[in-house]
Amino acid sequence: MDKKIILSAAQPTGNLTIGNYFGAIKNWVDLQDDFDSIFCVADLHAITVRQEPAELRKNTLSTLALYLACGLDPEKCLLFVQSHVEAHTALSWVLSCQTMFGELSRMTQFKDKSRKNAQNINAGLFTYPVLMASDILLYQADLVPVGKDQKQHVELARDIAERFNRNFSDTFKVPEPYIPKQGAKIMSLSEPEKKMSKSDENPQSSVYLLESRDETIKKFRRAVTDSDNCVKYSADKPGISNLITIYSCATGKTTREIEREFDSRGYGEFKSAVGEAVCDRLSGVRARYQELIGEKDYLMQILKSGAEQARYRAMKTLRKVYRKVGFLSPEA
Ligand code: TYM
Repeated sequence: MDKKIILSAAQPTGNLTIGNYFGAIKNWVDLQDDFDSIFCVADLHAITVRQEPAELRKNTLSTLALYLACGLDPEKCLLFVQSHVEAHTALSWVLSCQTMFGELSRMTQFKDKSRKNAQNINAGLFTYPVLMASDILLYQADLVPVGKDQKQHVELARDIAERFNRNFSDTFKVPEPYIPKQGAKIMSLSEPEKKMSKSDENPQSSVYLLESRDETIKKFRRAVTDSDNCVKYSADKPGISNLITIYSCATGKTTREIEREFDSRGYGEFKSAVGEAVCDRLSGVRARYQELIGEKDYLMQILKSGAEQARYRAMKTLRKVYRKVGFLSPEA
């Protein structure tokens, strides 16, 4: 039987964080053996906020190197850059004509980003979830492994797929989000009510995959917590609960085991242990990245072959869609 298809992506905007890793990429790596796996670098999504062109190019390649350093195997999965496959933008136009203004207005990420980028609320920021739906639906994905913040977008992709199938007969697989039990929403270290984000202006808030061991350890030592000094998971202790989640993701231990391990040992000791555990978990990723980023020819070769395979698969769906909506084929 054919394997089920998974698809996911990350934007190449700066340095990926442990939120991206535990919420998404680690799970892609765990799933790649059992699924027909497709992962892309979402550079088209990245330009919804202003980018320095040379930086964007650099970050696109660096994101691919990080995917590989985290353990994605180009022999097992299809890896490519979104802008290399023109079908994504083409399908996005067709699907935007199947998506309601009201639906897009309700997207919480759009509302958040509009608040943060009040000077640049461009139309791309608004239609961003339609492009994401196109990424998913073009490859007939069954499952989309993402963090919690992307769940609403995957649900919209489902709604769009169902609507298109109803209006034009069965065309798209209706995808399911795959949200990990642990690590689906890693919070900021300095403001633990907020999601950890690679675009946060305060570098103390986020732990980057590519920073030194010392920096990571220091950030955990300074992480904001309450003052009762008791390592216990609780909704009214967001800072310490976030650290427990991170420690659990890094070590595989359960919340209960962690609470027992640090019973009456205090926050200072716990924060150091979390920092050490995260660094141990990331040390292989960091070392492999340094090797890979020097091998530009190898990385470009993966992207060239990825683009060819992705184009072939994407065009199959796009041709079907064009036929169903009534576009005249030039080859007819
Ligand atoms: P992006 O680049 O913001 O994030 C990449 C992945 O990391 C997850 N993530 C987190 N998980 C847990 N805790 C956090 N603090 C955290 N921050 C980020 C995100 O949920 C995501 O899974 N629009 C997408 C990229 C995209 C995409 C797609 C995803 C483009 N096309 C198609 C899936 C399918 C985005 O901006 O992710």
